[in-house]
Parts: sequence; structure tokens; C-alpha cells
Amino acid sequence: MSLRLLAALSLAATASCKWIVPGARWYDTDGNLFNAHAGGLAVDRDSGKYFWFGEHKTEEQPEGGGISVYSSDDLATWESHGLALEPIEGHEMISPHNVIQRPKVQYSDEDKKYHMWWHADDDKYSLLLQGHATADNIEGPYIYDKAVKPLGNWSQDFGLFTDFKDGRSYALYSNGDRVEGRDVYLTSFNDELTDLEEVVFRWDKFDLEAPTIIQTDRSYYALMSHKTGYRPNNVVAFRADNLSGPWSQPFMVAPAYTRTFSTQSGFSWRINGTKQTTFLYMADQWDLNSLGESRNVWLPMDINDQEGTLEVLWHDIFDLNVKTGEWWPVEGTEYYAIDANLTGDAWLQEANFASFNRIATGIYGNDSRAIFEVQGAGEDQWISFYHQNIDDMGFGDQPMGQPDRINGTWQIRRVSSVVVNDDEEDVHTLYQKDTHKGIILSTAIKVPLKNGTNTISVGGLDNGFDVKGADLDKIIVYPPEPKETGCGAGHRH
Ligand SMILES: *[C@@H]1O[C@H](CO)[C@@H](O)[C@H](O)[C@H]1NC(C)=O
Ligand SMILES: *[C@@H]1O[C@H](CO)[C@@H](O)[C@H](O)[C@H]1NC(C)=O
Ligand SMILES: *[C@@H]1O[C@H](CO)[C@@H](O)[C@H](O)[C@H]1NC(C)=O
Ligand SMILES: *[C@@H]1O[C@H](CO)[C@@H](O)[C@H](O)[C@H]1NC(C)=O
Ligand SMILES: *[C@@H]1O[C@H](CO)[C@@H](O)[C@H](O)[C@H]1NC(C)=O
Ligand SMILES: *[C@@H]1O[C@H](CO)[C@@H](O)[C@H](O)[C@H]1NC(C)=O
Ligand SMILES: *[C@@H]1O[C@H](CO)[C@@H](O)[C@H](O)[C@H]1NC(C)=O
Repeated sequence: MSLRLLAALSLAATASCKWIVPGARWYDTDGNLFNAHAGGLAVDRDSGKYFWFGEHKTEEQPEGGGISVYSSDDLATWESHGLALEPIEGHEMISPHNVIQRPKVQYSDEDKKYHMWWHADDDKYSLLLQGHATADNIEGPYIYDKAVKPLGNWSQDFGLFTDFKDGRSYALYSNGDRVEGRDVYLTSFNDELTDLEEVVFRWDKFDLEAPTIIQTDRSYYALMSHKTGYRPNNVVAFRADNLSGPWSQPFMVAPAYTRTFSTQSGFSWRINGTKQTTFLYMADQWDLNSLGESRNVWLPMDINDQEGTLEVLWHDIFDLNVKTGEWWPVEGTEYYAIDANLTGDAWLQEANFASFNRIATGIYGNDSRAIFEVQGAGEDQWISFYHQNIDDMGFGDQPMGQPDRINGTWQIRRVSSVVVNDDEEDVHTLYQKDTHKGIILSTAIKVPLKNGTNTISVGGLDNGFDVKGADLDKIIVYPPEPKETGCGAGHRH
């Protein structure tokens, strides 16, 4: 057990906190799916509440759905305020046929307004503009102002960074896919946040996107992904003492081949807590085959300014106390594939990267399943499924590579069906991202468990091209989420 966890346990009784479950389906306080992708966080000047803005995506409308907004006191419980920027039919820049991506909101002391900036485009990405809208209240509605070329240039993925030392804001934008535009700009805003002023730095040797900057007392770290569309890759970071550079060489922020835990960077946030400073990586786990099933992945980052390193840390579930800045991983009980009952053609295959050297493979349709017996507490509980899915995206970070399995079809995920206690009426869908060979990643879903022994049966669901489930290494059953007052109880098991 880590020191941090030990320290956290003793504090748990008094902490008021909620669990964050990266990559899971999140629901708002009305019970609707949390739908705000490639977003950004802002704080209300009056109430101090957090507001998250993001792209509203559905299966029917993956683009042009407008910008949704949610508010929260704890970054885990979210109330929907509908659309902050609503598409207007026939509008030149914010019609339902436009690209309205990567919104960021920041308040200007100068004109006392909230300013929203985003990547504004047509549906062919041929304009590459930055859109601007303003509102008097943080939740909007935001009124469209303009869409511009930043200092005469192109602008694709949009990021916004505000320096806590002097309150100055900067735009970050990749310039476009054209050969002459393969760079990322860092450009200062004016005080009103209505226009860009001056290029502070240009990363001109790299073709990166989805930029965000996180600031420590000493450093700036700029995180960016490679350009592989909605397919995840190895996000890199650069470090500098000064925004104008010199910036370090890029380095990876997560274990190699995990493709940054199947995510793309886009936003980050510094919690200046009363007890510790915590840095959050706020990323997207895209689902190329069904963009409406894309998820938010928020994870803590470990930053060492002495060494100049930054690491994104994976946890299936973590507790976060936004007041103190403390966070700690939630622990659960592990159940391994070697102890599961396998039916039909499912079998245990040697795999030296898996637990006990074996992984359950051949999970297919309704008849070839892995069935686990687990202990429940009589409540809805999170279970994370540790899987390997080697449909494979080609070579390394090359997006267009062919799968190297005979007759393989390049796919970004499989879908498994999870049936609890033989309740066929209530089939849970588990999306399992493509991983590299030998890389095991996890996804959590919440299911109802009985008090006592339960069966968790995993089969393959029709995922649009096959009924294969991913290979399974183990599952982890987490204790019930603590009620409002009992935060931290879940750690003891
Ligand atoms: C616009 O982009 C081009 C290509 O990256 C670059 O050479 C030029 O300096 C940029 N101009 C400004 C004003 O940023
Ligand atoms: C950062 O660099 C700029 C340009 O060289 C300089 O004007 C500024 O003083 C530097 N800031 C700090 C904090 O060193
Ligand atoms: C962080 O919070 C402390 C109070 O908890 C405050 O004194 C300090 O100025 C804050 N620092 C920044 C950079 O916001
Ligand atoms: C699995 O069973 C369900 C009904 O329980 C059925 O709708 C579905 O088509 C079956 N899937 C396969 C792949 O046979
Ligand atoms: C496997 O099946 C046997 C026989 O039905 C049963 O006794 C055992 O509890 C099952 N174990 C699991 C992990 O499902
Ligand atoms: C690949 O697909 C073709 C056409 O469906 C089939 O004839 C062939 O047997 C498949 N090969 C393998 C190795 O599965
Ligand atoms: C769960 O089951 C145990 C033992 O079977 C029992 O002692 C306990 O009271 C039960 N808890 C609930 C919440 O029903």
C-alpha cells in the first residue's frame, strides 16, 4: 500500500468526496448520460462552482450538436444546464452542419463577460477558424460573435491556458493538416479575450494536436497527442520554465503501448487544495465506431519538477476531494480468469503478460462465455473488466496500418455482454477498446449485485462486425459507493 493511500485512509472518515470512474458511463443528476466531449473546465466567479463545457455528441449527430454545459461542486456530481451554445439552423458557423469542437471558456475581468472559444469549421474542415461567443452568466446561453483566422493563420484543435501567475490567457492550436501547417501555436490573448495578440511559441517540428498546458509552481507542461484522428496514441509532453521556451524534448506521459490508456489529451486542471496540489489529466476516450459512446477519462498526474517528468496515473476509480486537493485510489476485490468457468469455445491461453500466465480467450456470442463468481454487498457496484483486444490498429502509432492478423478487420473496440445472476432481461454492454498485443487495460461498468454470491457472465455482443468479446485477464469488484456522509468507507475491504 502506498504512503499516499495510508495517509488517505486515516483521513477518509471526514473527507467529503465522490468517486471518479475514468472511461465509464457517467450520468448527470437527472440520470442522463454525461455528454460533453473534448471539453474544458471553468469556474463561476460568483459561486465558485465548476462548469464543464464540451461537445454534445449523439449517434445521430456526432458533429454540430452544439456545446453542452454541466455544473458541479466536486467534479464528480454533475447537473446539466442543457446547451451553452445552441446550433442555429442556417447559421454560417454554428449550424448543425458545422464543426463546433473543443470549446473552452474563460472569464475576462476587463469586460466582465465569459468568453467561449472553439474550433469553428465547415463539415469538410476546410475553414480552420476559431469561433468566439460571449455570455454574462457562465452557463450561457452564449451569443455568437465571430469566427476568425488567428493572426491570419489556420486553427484546428483548440486549447486555452490561463497562467495563474499573471492571469494572462493563451490560445493553443494546431495549425492544420497541410504540410506547411504541421505545427502547434501558443499565442497570447488580449485582456478582453476578444482577440489574439502575439505568438509566444511555435512547435514547428512536430505534427501534434489536442494541446493543453498544465502549470506547476516552477514549470509549464504542454501535453499533445499525435494526429491519428479518433484513434488513440501515445500523448507526449514538453516542459519549460517559460512559456516562450526553451521547451524540452517531448516525452511520453503514460506506459508505452497503452496509447495513453486509450485516450487523447485535450484539457488539464490544477487543483490548488488546502492540503495538496493535484493535477488532473482530462481526456477523451473516443469511440470511432459510435462517437456517442465516447467517454471522458480524468486521471491524476504525477509531476516531478526536479526531474522534469509528468506521468498520467491509471486508476479504475479514485476519490477526489476538491477542497483539500487529496485523492486516493479505491480498492476492490480481484477475481481472475483462471478461476472463472469457461463455456463453449472459450478457453485459457498461455499469456506471459497476464495474471498467472493465462488469459481467457475465445469469448464469443452467448455460448462461449467467462463466468465469474463474486461477492456482492446488495447494491449497485462498479466492476472493472481487465481486457486485451488485439484487433490492432496497425504499427505503433500509424493509424492507417493494416491489422496483422490473417483476415483481421481493423476495429477500435469490441463489445461484450455482461449478464449478472442470469438476468437475461438486463444485459449490460461493455465497450472494450483495442489494445496493443500484451497490453491489458480496464473498463468499469456499474451493475446490481446481491448480498452474497453473484455470477458475472461475460459473452460477446454484436458489435457491428462480429460477436467476439475481448480476452479477459481478471475483474475487480468494488465496494458500494459511499453515501454522502460515509466517504472513504469503500477503501476498507
Ligand atoms: C502562419 O503559419 C505559417 C506556417 O506555419 C508560419 O510560417 C507563419 O509564421 C504563421 N504566421 C503567423 C502570423 O503566425
Ligand atoms: C519569459 O521569456 C520572456 C521572453 O524572453 C521574458 O520577457 C520574460 O521575462 C520571461 N519570463 C520569466 C518568468 O522568466
Ligand atoms: C493556492 O491556495 C492558497 C490557499 O489555499 C493560496 O494562498 C495561494 O495563493 C493559491 N495559489 C495559487 C497559485 O492559486
Ligand atoms: C444472445 O441472446 C440474445 C437473447 O438473450 C439474443 O437477442 C442475441 O441475438 C443472442 N446473440 C447471439 C450472438 O446469438
Ligand atoms: C463453476 O461451475 C461449478 C459447477 O457448476 C460451480 O460449482 C462453481 O461454483 C462455478 N465457479 C464459478 C467461478 O462460476
Ligand atoms: C479469410 O477469409 C476468406 C474469405 O472469407 C476465407 O475463405 C478464408 O478461409 C479466411 N482465412 C482464414 C485464415 O481465416
Ligand atoms: C448480507 O449477508 C450477510 C450474511 O449472509 C448478513 O450478515 C448481512 O446482514 C447482509 N447484509 C445486508 C445489507 O443484507
